[in-house]
Amino acid sequence: MNAPHKVGIGTPLARVDGADKVTGRAKYAAEYAVPDLLYGVAVPARIAKGRIVSIDDAAARAVPGVVEVMTHENRPKQAWLDHSWKDELSIPGDPFKALHDDRVLFAGQPVALVIAETFEAARFAAGLVQIDYDAEAHNVDFDTSLAEKFLPPKGMRRNTFHPPKARGDAGAAFDAAALKVSGEYRLATEHHNPMEMHASTVEWHGDGKITVYDKVQGSQNTQSYLAGAFKLSKKDVRVVNAYVGGGFGSGLRPQWQVQLATMGAILLERSVRVVMTRQQMFYHAHRPECTYEIRLGAEHTGKLTSIYGDATTSTSRFENNMEDIVTWGMMNYDCPNAEGHYTIAPRDTYTSADMRAPGAVTGMGLFEIAIDEMAYEAKVDPLEFRMINYSETEAMNQVPFTSKALREAYREGAERFGWAERSPEPRSMKEDRELIGWGVATGMWDAQFSKTSARARLSANGDLEVASATSDIGTGTYTVMTQVAADTLGLSPDRITARLGDSDLPAAPVEGGSWAAASTGAAVQLACRSVAEKLFKAADKVENRPLWGAQSIDDLDFVDGEMVLKSDPTKRVSLTDAMRAGGLDVIEVEETAKPGLSDMVSMAKKARNTHSAVFVEVRVDEELDQVRVTRVVNAVAAGRIINPRTARSQILGGVVMGIGMALHEETFIDATLGRWMNHNYAEYHVPAHADIEDVDVIFVDEPDPEVTPLGVKGLGEIGIVGTAAAVANAIFHATGKRVRSLPITVDKLL
Ligand code: MOS
Repeated sequence: MNAPHKVGIGTPLARVDGADKVTGRAKYAAEYAVPDLLYGVAVPARIAKGRIVSIDDAAARAVPGVVEVMTHENRPKQAWLDHSWKDELSIPGDPFKALHDDRVLFAGQPVALVIAETFEAARFAAGLVQIDYDAEAHNVDFDTSLAEKFLPPKGMRRNTFHPPKARGDAGAAFDAAALKVSGEYRLATEHHNPMEMHASTVEWHGDGKITVYDKVQGSQNTQSYLAGAFKLSKKDVRVVNAYVGGGFGSGLRPQWQVQLATMGAILLERSVRVVMTRQQMFYHAHRPECTYEIRLGAEHTGKLTSIYGDATTSTSRFENNMEDIVTWGMMNYDCPNAEGHYTIAPRDTYTSADMRAPGAVTGMGLFEIAIDEMAYEAKVDPLEFRMINYSETEAMNQVPFTSKALREAYREGAERFGWAERSPEPRSMKEDRELIGWGVATGMWDAQFSKTSARARLSANGDLEVASATSDIGTGTYTVMTQVAADTLGLSPDRITARLGDSDLPAAPVEGGSWAAASTGAAVQLACRSVAEKLFKAADKVENRPLWGAQSIDDLDFVDGEMVLKSDPTKRVSLTDAMRAGGLDVIEVEETAKPGLSDMVSMAKKARNTHSAVFVEVRVDEELDQVRVTRVVNAVAAGRIINPRTARSQILGGVVMGIGMALHEETFIDATLGRWMNHNYAEYHVPAHADIEDVDVIFVDEPDPEVTPLGVKGLGEIGIVGTAAAVANAIFHATGKRVRSLPITVDKLL
């Protein structure tokens, strides 16, 4: 008898789509070969606010190959009601509608689409379109916009955010505190910069149907959005996003290139592709700029007595994008008095958007710098300070967590890092001409679970297909689906095909919020369990009924393509034999995983979060003030880990982005022109390989059967939270210089 062999949950299976990606077999939105394709290139508005007075497209139309110059004057009909343009993640306000009318709302806004037989002709002609504007005064400067800051009323829609009720009296406690930290903390505007630019290929089938290959984080979100915006029937719109070259939130909502490509296809009744240029990518989704006033009070022992926070983030004039900035510190630390305030400030840009761990990476990150400052005030080791103020419960709402292994993350991370060897005084560690600093920070994110459906189809030869409309934005969803199926039915991964990224597949939300693995995983498991039930029933028809005595599939192990009686492993039936005996050519089921009643009760009574402890070593050149991040240990408590290999990659990516946030990433805007200035990779800096040295990831043990069906909490976002703060805190330890605004560029260290 062979030992049972199973590639189950917890196995470091290599990414199942890896070979397709590195060999180019994986197709992205702009790579689909579609017959008679036209290419659209957007003409960007040259002003930040005002009206289009006239458009002269004669020169553009004269270019050989140009088919049409589409503007608000000749575009096809589209819905004029704002609610028709709402997508799954819409936020309060009026969604942007490209080529809707003569209004210019932000610089770089697409105001015309030149459509030609070749991309080159379209691009050349786009530069020839002459547009006259009636410009109005604009403001794109965040500090100026603060004069107009406000908090929209609480609405029914998602994505409104209001700070929690205060607890205690933070003001009085601060006044009375023995130790005080008070300051303004800032985060610059950042852009997502996924590798794949936003792109849509709209295939016109000529029978009223279109297929849209879209770079987006949710195929069905784009499907219902296009149906609403262009008054199409959903069944006539199929959206495919089988591969997505990174998103980070920039593709949570359908973006303007899909509007334009669809509009062009409808106008010309032909297939149209629109790809944003890298520069144009900077004129849409970006992380809001933030200012965060933080006041902390503590006793001499380091016990926090007061937390006060007041934050403002940037949005556009037409939509109210809000983030949860001020609650994270209030939730994480045990402190009797806490108070939070929040507003948004409108400016004449495109709407800010969710970007990897939106709100948390800003709010928790900046707060963790203030916490570090207070630890120095109290002359307590920064890690010890966090232990002193550790909260077993979610401190803001005073509810328990389904699980919280942050203490273990601190402990295991510190041990791996060698934190005990740290010399407490700033500027006290040095090697050659480099000052060495060690810093720590805490990360926190939500563990979410969204209603998701999946289908499982087992063929008579033992091949299994699992399918869901969910996405894989590089996070590993294909692999998670394969692995959960392999685990549930005991099949080898090479007999399993995972399909996703197609609106025709069973319903799934956008991939975001770190909920995909927990939600899609649960749906795949349910579907595979249904298959297992049917196999079990069929096995009863196998000669001599080897599984006799088993009451349900829980009495069986599914391994090596067989059902094995747990009580007597010599008794077994292969899946294919069971199907044959049952006269089944195929078993196909679809199931939906969604929070049930007990989950709802649990959600109301308990907090569900991931946590992390990030330890960072920096080396700062004393003469040049150049910062190197030489070591990072990120210890993560995120429930059950489906695949340690892809999970580690998620955290590595988060850490790299966190280093970018700490040291490099910042988009500057020209107040006069209203335009983003460093709108390219040469001037918008993201970490390169040379910036990344030793990064170590730990997953601490955190069993949590309550949080989601698989005990999974999600990993897409937690890796970035806390990383930038740990770098900032390490820089203080190295240099003695406290920088309260990110990124910490060289000029701030001089
Ligand atoms: Mo994420 S910001 O939910 O893609």
